[in-house]
Amino acid sequence: MSRRKLRRVFSRLWLLAPVTTLGVGCSSTWGCDAAPVQETFTLESIELADGGVATADTACEEVCAQLGARAPCSFKRSSAGLAEPDEVSCEMRYLCEGRRPEGLCSDGMVEGRVPALGALFARMAHLEAASVPAFERLADELAAHGAPERLVRAARRSAKEEVRHARAMESLAVRHGAAMPEVTVAPFGYRSLEALALENAVEGCVRETFGAVLAGWQARCAEDATVREALAAIAPDELCHSELSWDINAWVRTRLPEDAWARVEAARREAWSALERDAADSLMPEHVARQSGLPSPEVARQLVRELARTLMA
Ligand SMILES: [Fe+2]
Ligand SMILES: [Fe+2]
Repeated sequence: MSRRKLRRVFSRLWLLAPVTTLGVGCSSTWGCDAAPVQETFTLESIELADGGVATADTACEEVCAQLGARAPCSFKRSSAGLAEPDEVSCEMRYLCEGRRPEGLCSDGMVEGRVPALGALFARMAHLEAASVPAFERLADELAAHGAPERLVRAARRSAKEEVRHARAMESLAVRHGAAMPEVTVAPFGYRSLEALALENAVEGCVRETFGAVLAGWQARCAEDATVREALAAIAPDELCHSELSWDINAWVRTRLPEDAWARVEAARREAWSALERDAADSLMPEHVARQSGLPSPEVARQLVRELARTLMA
């Protein structure tokens, strides 16, 4: 994958972001990684289609339709003194992608009740922070396996950039009432070149590459100007991280035996399919999608499919 081709693909997909007439608009019900999270909302904060607000008698399906959630949701009381439930808890699946290190133990979920937008940014900040040890390990392993110095240097530079990204997203999370969850990663051990290549194919060539597309998309679509500004600074770095993944991929190809290379290719194909399923499965309240600028599940799925088609060609 040449850098020129990769940049052409990114430019084309980023330029689609504001073209609503093609049906790829920025709003609607859209969706950090595909792991489901439970979000809790007060009933009186949920506006219904008829202009009223949700009550204990509102049907679950109606609540889910307004929140962009998936049934069943569960009604609950926030305190023992209340006769009627005044909160509802719903399943959300946020779409956020990046390079996760092997052995990542924390999931980025925020404890307690926080605004959904804050919870999304906290998850994004957690993933950015998790990318720091991923790149530090990658740099050390590349050096140990005799990779060209330019790849090692680029991986170290990327780790420093991810520190900056994590800070930027953390400040967005704090601004919206959430703290960044702590990142916990199991201790690293020695890995073969094939194991490095497999991780790079999935986490770099697929997930971080799509994360770069999302960052550029959000930089154009987010209703919140602070979010656009933060993502506009992050997107060019993520493009470079994606290019690094493909450069590493090209280098390992010259070093791996045919059977190992076939396993790397198979893992990458499967990662595209899994990412497409995750994108189609994303769920989040409409106001979160609008303010964060994330694409809808259908648009996200189309973006993954187009990216996979072009990059696998
Ligand atoms: Fe990043
Ligand atoms: Fe990155």
